[in-house]
Amino acid sequence: MTDQPAIERQRLDVDIVCVGFGPAPAGFRATLSKPSVNARCLAWLAVFLLFFIAGPAGRADEKKAGPVTAVLGALPVEIEMLESKLQDKQTEKHLNVTFYTGTLNGRKVVLAVGGVGKVNAAMTATLLLDHFQPAEILFTGVAGGLNPDLAPGDIVLGEKTAQHDRGELTSAGFSPQPTGEGIPLFMTPPERLLALAETASSEAGFDKIKTTRGERLPRVVRGVIVTGDIFVASSAKTAELRNMFKADAVEMEGAAVAQVCWRQNVPCLVIRCVSDKADTMAREDFGHFLNAAAANSAKLTLSMLKLLANSK
Ligand code: ADE
Repeated sequence: MTDQPAIERQRLDVDIVCVGFGPAPAGFRATLSKPSVNARCLAWLAVFLLFFIAGPAGRADEKKAGPVTAVLGALPVEIEMLESKLQDKQTEKHLNVTFYTGTLNGRKVVLAVGGVGKVNAAMTATLLLDHFQPAEILFTGVAGGLNPDLAPGDIVLGEKTAQHDRGELTSAGFSPQPTGEGIPLFMTPPERLLALAETASSEAGFDKIKTTRGERLPRVVRGVIVTGDIFVASSAKTAELRNMFKADAVEMEGAAVAQVCWRQNVPCLVIRCVSDKADTMAREDFGHFLNAAAANSAKLTLSMLKLLANSK
């Protein structure tokens, strides 16, 4: 014979009723033992506290922390320096893309490496907008310089961005076209972001760059940046892009990100540091200047974040 428990558990047929919740729905009517009723009441109480007290408090905290700036690059080296300085760093994955959140120079940020090319860039920009609702997106990275006045290390702020490989090719040649009715061929950032980048450049702490005329600090200029799914290493293509778009720099993501942002009415600035001249030496120069150019662009971005933090 088994021992009887000291206090026999009473079987009860109950409606689960907790203060403030009213009777349980029919499906909840159950035969329960006394301790289980208490446990369920406690569980409901915990749920109540979580959703009705902690929830709003948490949301208020988020609001207090201020707006988020998204910073996007194509290659890991374009984001690495920023990621290494990130405070309160956390990571999130969405559709297999890793996003780093935290604070840089007092500004709440989300960083991402989107991969090379327009499709990767557009997908990552969309994920950024959807999951983080940034106040703006800054694209930071390297580009081929098309303007002969620019040397590796100089920075172009995308006053205009366009997709150079979107259009119509006939026997008369290629003519660029916008990607749809009502969509401009050239995307333009707000003057506020361009001016902020120029102000930030004086405090960015750039390393000097070597040119044929000696060492100098990098120039930061406004210009036309064209984007296409091509690494340009051809003087003929360089001349074509310069003639057709009056382009100062060529890269593979900027205009795609700018278009996604334009469609969602979110400000976007493309910041590109020259790593090569998009000519026959482009591959070699790219390998040589990539790290320094990526760092320069990231330094300008970091300096902009400080100004954005103070502009709250
Ligand atoms: N990014 C850096 N250099 C480039 C080039 N030459 N063509 C396209 N994208 C680039």
